[in-house]
Amino acid sequence: MKNIAVVGTGYVGLVTGAGISDFGSKVCCLDIDIEKIKLLNNGKIPIYEPGLKDLVDRNIKSKRLTFSNDIEESIKYAEIIFIAVGTPENKSGEADISAVLQVAELIGKNLNNYKLICTKSTVPVGTGKQIINVINKHKQNNIQFDYCSNPEFLREGKAVSDFLRPDRVVLGVSSKKAYDYMKDIYRPLYINKTPLINTTIETAEMIKYAANAFLALKISYINEVANLCDEIGADINVVSEALGSDGRISPKFLHPGPGFGGSCFPKDTKALVKIAKKYELNMNTIDAAIKTNNYQRRRMFNKIENLLEGDLKNKKIAVLGLSFKQETDDVRESAAIEIILELINREVSINAYDPVANDSMKKLIPDIEYKLNWQSAVKGCDAVVIMTEWNEFRGLNLEELKELMFTPIILDTRNILNISELKRLEFKFDNVGRK
Ligand code: UDX
Repeated sequence: MKNIAVVGTGYVGLVTGAGISDFGSKVCCLDIDIEKIKLLNNGKIPIYEPGLKDLVDRNIKSKRLTFSNDIEESIKYAEIIFIAVGTPENKSGEADISAVLQVAELIGKNLNNYKLICTKSTVPVGTGKQIINVINKHKQNNIQFDYCSNPEFLREGKAVSDFLRPDRVVLGVSSKKAYDYMKDIYRPLYINKTPLINTTIETAEMIKYAANAFLALKISYINEVANLCDEIGADINVVSEALGSDGRISPKFLHPGPGFGGSCFPKDTKALVKIAKKYELNMNTIDAAIKTNNYQRRRMFNKIENLLEGDLKNKKIAVLGLSFKQETDDVRESAAIEIILELINREVSINAYDPVANDSMKKLIPDIEYKLNWQSAVKGCDAVVIMTEWNEFRGLNLEELKELMFTPIILDTRNILNISELKRLEFKFDNVGRK
């Protein structure tokens, strides 16, 4: 087994590093953030990700997983280097790859023997070539290296199982040797017959954007169908189920809601449109998916307004769920942000509660009330809005909820509540496509 360095211990880098060490390689996870490495060395995980602590602990114990700030030394020692630093959206909607190129420069300067450089970060098509150029520019001698684009398909909240049991592994490589190295890392998957897709660097980069944009498209499509169901009185749950049972469509990513959020879909859809523009091509479908997603948030706000008959001023509303989806404390691009800001604009006072994301939201929106459980959040409220599909909210005791509220009005943007129960208890309610 080879020595591996993973540069960047964000959620992708940490899951990748721990996952690869679980497959049997010796991995050193690196970061410039001294505090983060200190935490990890003390057995603490800086993010909320189910199953990650167990995975990390088990591989630290087996001495296959270590953490360090000494990036240059670790690069020299490693035979394979994963780049897993962030590529946030810049002002013009493109992915900012400056951190990736900085790592490439460091690798070039410290290239002391043959290495395979592998990118995990989501980067625009063509970045692989740029990385190769930067390394070539900074290397001091004629040492060879290879390159691989190995995009991640990790869902937050399910990242550990997505890594350990993926649907496929995409390997866009510069040589047969690079493919063989990667195959060796993913050996446990390969022997279990997980498809390893052996392709070019550009194709691998394209696959990542094409996959995320397609899923975003699917969500926007089902949201539009749900909105139409709202108007004509059809039930989107039954429509989704029937659509999903067609093998060509598949039941996944057909859940309507307040629109997709998170660190990937909003950023990657915009980036794909930008990439196409450079080649004078329009991604009309993806453009439409983005527009629909923006509208969906607006529509959720309008639903609150309608439930309260336009009278929002000085009302008190509980927002249950702040993260962009369940099982994560990540609030990036969460639909809850826009709804809360709009409610604040309309002089509504807000009680917010999320099982794990209160602290992350507090950093973005400090001036609302954060509560430690749903009961104290809904107490005395004029309405409740469910923004995230946490299991805790699926099992809400609606009788208790009604007793605690000032008026029993509820918007369920995730379609998780039982409609007959809501009717029986005489709630005034709305949802997405289930009138
Ligand atoms: C996504 C991709 O799934 C993953 O493969 C990629 O590499 C990173 O981006 P993630 O952002 O963690 O993962 O979340 P995901 O589970 O895909 O959900 C994204 C958003 O879509 C969330 O806001 C979620 O609530 C929403 N969604 C998802 C729906 O509204 N309906 C669905 O049916 C599925």
